[in-house]
Amino acid sequence: MQTILLKNIANYLGQEVAVRGWIYNFRSSGSISFLQVRDGSGFVQAIVSKNEAPAEVWEACQKITIETSVEIVGTVTKHPKKEEYELQVKDMKIVQVAEEYPIGKKEHGPEFLLDERHLWLRSSKQWATMRVRNTVINATYEYFNQNGFIKIDTPILTPTACEGTTTLFEVPYFDLGKAYLAQSGQLYLEAAAMSFGRCFDFGPTFRAEKSKTRRHLTEFWMMDAEAAFVHHEENMKIQEELICYIVKKVLENNKKDLQILERDVSKLEKIKAPFVRMTYHDAIKKVQSLGSDIKDGDDLGADDETLLTQDSDVPIFVEKWPRQIKAFYMKRDPQNPEVVLGSDLIATEGHGEIIGGSEREDNYDLLLSRMKEEKMPLADFQWYLDLRKYGSVPHSGFGYGLERITGWMCGVHHVRETIPFPRMINRLKP
Ligand code: 4AD
Ligand code: MG
Repeated sequence: MQTILLKNIANYLGQEVAVRGWIYNFRSSGSISFLQVRDGSGFVQAIVSKNEAPAEVWEACQKITIETSVEIVGTVTKHPKKEEYELQVKDMKIVQVAEEYPIGKKEHGPEFLLDERHLWLRSSKQWATMRVRNTVINATYEYFNQNGFIKIDTPILTPTACEGTTTLFEVPYFDLGKAYLAQSGQLYLEAAAMSFGRCFDFGPTFRAEKSKTRRHLTEFWMMDAEAAFVHHEENMKIQEELICYIVKKVLENNKKDLQILERDVSKLEKIKAPFVRMTYHDAIKKVQSLGSDIKDGDDLGADDETLLTQDSDVPIFVEKWPRQIKAFYMKRDPQNPEVVLGSDLIATEGHGEIIGGSEREDNYDLLLSRMKEEKMPLADFQWYLDLRKYGSVPHSGFGYGLERITGWMCGVHHVRETIPFPRMINRLKP
């Protein structure tokens, strides 16, 4: 007897197969029991008939509770009306009768569900979300492998800040004092780009910011990419291509998941190159005209990002930001030294900033003077300055937030649902 995965059940029509999984729901009508089974790969309705199944199978059926684990043998049939397959049960073994399951049919609040995250992960929408996340990860690797980028793993324990000292997590580090959890692998990736040309990293990053918004986690997964001899324009082109590739793969691979999530896929189908490009200056004017009280020189808030993209089918690159509000490593625009050659990519439908990127300052003196202005500990960054001494070249890169992209693909608005076990200011468990 072959044990099958439910995602492949259509290939076994008419055959007797074994299935291993969990009962996520069940009902009985007299002498027939309908068991809703999931096995991790898919779902099936298993039908037990009192008159046809062995007596002990019918008895086992009476013991079933929600999330009881089972091994079932049955014949695959097709639903008379729908494109669905069913299992006519011949034999069934209970692996474990589950205790009363805390997640029921009634509405639960988010805090309760997050406390039960270890179980909530089994719910269909959470299951679908993680499967989309998996596609985003794989599509990212595929895109980079097809485009000459190699994966370089950057360290998580670091001696200095990448994105600013106010949001660092500190950890004691033996006799060396303190270490900090990485906010982004970018600075190390710049070193790697001078060895490999094009590279990317992908791993957990940490931000101790006191933001309690639906877009902030304290631990999240970031992909950074970096490429030598690439300028600002080409940097945006790479981001656009990567995002289009991810969207295409999600539409191809996750049809059923998007259905479970009730995602309006027509919105995803419209995400095509070219994306809109707009200077920071024009973006400010646009959101002001739409009612925002933002001032020139302010960072775009979440509400501004939503306003900015509300009538756009495609994401918007906001480029050429005032240098004061962007990181020290961004290259000044030779046309206007008050702005930097950096861009934020703002997703549609209120999902906010998904990518931050820039051309990097590749001139030793300009970088040094900016670091002095910011009163950075120069000795700690000597290695980073070195990259501008030994064959410095123009280079650019960017970093995306996996949870925000996954949320955007799924139409899920809070990033706490797009990572298996979210870490937020007020949550470290389970
Ligand atoms: O814009 P950020 O801060 O850029 C960097 O860290 C650069 N060093 C990246 C680079 O150029 N290699 O972060 C990049 C992305 C953001 O656009 C956002 O999608 C995500 O990371 N992000 C967060 N996601 C969830 N929770 C948070 N607290 C996040 N902070 C940033
Ligand atoms: Mg940013």
